Amino acid sequence: MGLAFPMDAFESLGLKHDGRKLWVLDQTQLPDAEVWLDGSTPEAMIALIQRLAVRGAPLIGVAAAACLATYAHRGATAAEYATACAALRAARPTAVNLMWAMDRMKGTPNPVAEAQAIFAEDVRLCEGMAEHGAALIQDGEGLLTHCNTGGLATAGIGTALGVIRRAHEQGKHIHVYADETRPLLQGGRLTAWELQRLGIPATLITDSMAALLLRDGKVQRVLVGSDRVAANGDFANKVGTYGLAVQAKHHGVPFHPVAPFSTVDLACPSGATIPIELRDPAEVRGYGAWRWAPADMPAWNPSFDVTPVNLVTSLVLDRGVYSQGQLGSGVLGRVCG
Ligand code: MRU
Repeated sequence: MGLAFPMDAFESLGLKHDGRKLWVLDQTQLPDAEVWLDGSTPEAMIALIQRLAVRGAPLIGVAAAACLATYAHRGATAAEYATACAALRAARPTAVNLMWAMDRMKGTPNPVAEAQAIFAEDVRLCEGMAEHGAALIQDGEGLLTHCNTGGLATAGIGTALGVIRRAHEQGKHIHVYADETRPLLQGGRLTAWELQRLGIPATLITDSMAALLLRDGKVQRVLVGSDRVAANGDFANKVGTYGLAVQAKHHGVPFHPVAPFSTVDLACPSGATIPIELRDPAEVRGYGAWRWAPADMPAWNPSFDVTPVNLVTSLVLDRGVYSQGQLGSGVLGRVCG
């Protein structure tokens, strides 16, 4: 399949193709080491996605698509391609971007061109979110964010972190508070790494410190990403997001999920039907080789939670900003349908 079409080289912060192989920046080793791993085969890519070496809703869709294109380019048969497409689609359950990308790849006569289009489109979608979202941010604001939603989570500049980056580039004097994001520390390891590279003034906090910052008036706006937005505006994101939304509401602070249209799932009428990934309880008992809880302590590890639309001030999409009222009146069906 697809042999007639050359693979062009492409590169983002966490993913690159050299025309022959697909490489993934191992996000589990950041910020201490920048190690690129070969993700050219479906088996390798599924393992990389599942252990969060490559992660973030848009990026796992883009990476899986690039992997399938590489597989086709290397001569996979139609049956092998279809099997790999289904297996990649099932690698993680919550981020609908993965299913969206695999459904595009399943139907295409030209996997290489389709994967390249998905990559380029994600870059453009990030620009759209950045422009619309940055317009909300006023000079001098303190901004709170959760998990990692930047260049490591997308093919472009990011979702919520892309908005923050654009506001900084516009010369607005902002200060970012980054939740470390238990249990896998995407905020402490990855967002902190990105913020430092970008030179954006920022402070790292543990998730449990957010309410105090909100109470003390240090935060004027909360910006988070999303793994799946339901048709009514409820959305799933990294566990801890729902708690932040409750705290923001209590303190009267605007709260905005930021997502591309590829994260909207109109087949989910509300957040109740979004599948939530349950991960290994060992991730709660410790981190890497370090364990602080008894080895046999029961633990619960949902990777995502669902924030109801009544806690959302507005949703920033690549194509505009939609208020809670607009979301409640079904605007997503009209703009994403
Ligand atoms: O488990 P992860 O690290 O893939 O979770 C990522 C998030 O929850 C992000 O906020 C989400 O994917 C949107 S960011 C582009």
